Amino acid sequence: MSATVQVIRPGFVAEIGNVDLRTVIAPDDVAIIQNAVDNHPVLVFRGPTLTNDQHIAFSKNFGNLSRATEYQKDPMKRRLGGEMTDASNLSEDNQVLGAGDRRRMNNLGSRRWHTDGSYKALSGKYSLLHCHTEIADGGQTQFADMRGGYDALPERMKQLIDKLVVVHSIFYSREVVGFGGFSPEEQSTLPQARHPLVRVHPASGRKSLYISSHAWHIEGWPIPEGIDLLHELTEYATQPDNVYTHQWQVGDLTMWDNRFTMHRARRHWPETAVRDMRRTTIEEAAPPLQQAA
Ligand SMILES: [Fe+2]
Repeated sequence: MSATVQVIRPGFVAEIGNVDLRTVIAPDDVAIIQNAVDNHPVLVFRGPTLTNDQHIAFSKNFGNLSRATEYQKDPMKRRLGGEMTDASNLSEDNQVLGAGDRRRMNNLGSRRWHTDGSYKALSGKYSLLHCHTEIADGGQTQFADMRGGYDALPERMKQLIDKLVVVHSIFYSREVVGFGGFSPEEQSTLPQARHPLVRVHPASGRKSLYISSHAWHIEGWPIPEGIDLLHELTEYATQPDNVYTHQWQVGDLTMWDNRFTMHRARRHWPETAVRDMRRTTIEEAAPPLQQAA
């Protein structure tokens, strides 16, 4: 029997069943999942827990993995290999990170609405986030539908933003959460990236906002004017009726299309509870501006 697709939110969220992610996925099932994510940019898979190798192997069905981001002069000690982003609150020896730890401050950036890797020329296409420990209170991931966000805009706003280019920087998104002071040498490792503000979904032809906490300003505009517009668009696009909240269970894996969604992590209680989340990211085949050309 083939993989099943159960719609949770039409055109936005679907749950995939009857597929064992620990095994090699049959080409027909890969096609079903690909079609599902084309039509529902957030997919949910329910268990069982995967090894890191199984998680990586499943991810590679959908493109090339991007390496986890490293941008600090003193490399952060890593708990996971370079093909995985550590979205946990754990140190390399599985201890909960204390307040002030640079890894913890880095991960606090994930609590702002963002798309993964938008600060890179080859930005994140898909992300696959896997839950290894359940959080009893909080710790959800929220998703916002950026096609719905675009549709909700007034017509004159659509006309204003149609051809704009946004400058993205991870150093901007870190400054906003109070984590700054990066040297020119560190900043040179991840130069700013330029991306279109409006993208077209290849499967549906629908337009979509492409914004993120890394989205800094509008190319060619005074910086404060661009920051103001991006704040306004983020408010439009993240209204509650345009947001899906995922309450994690152990073994859950969510796969989302970064091109047409934003997401954020929520606080969990108590903060000393372990939140072990691991992510792979599939990178774009070409910079989005080149795809639009
Ligand atoms: Fe993220």
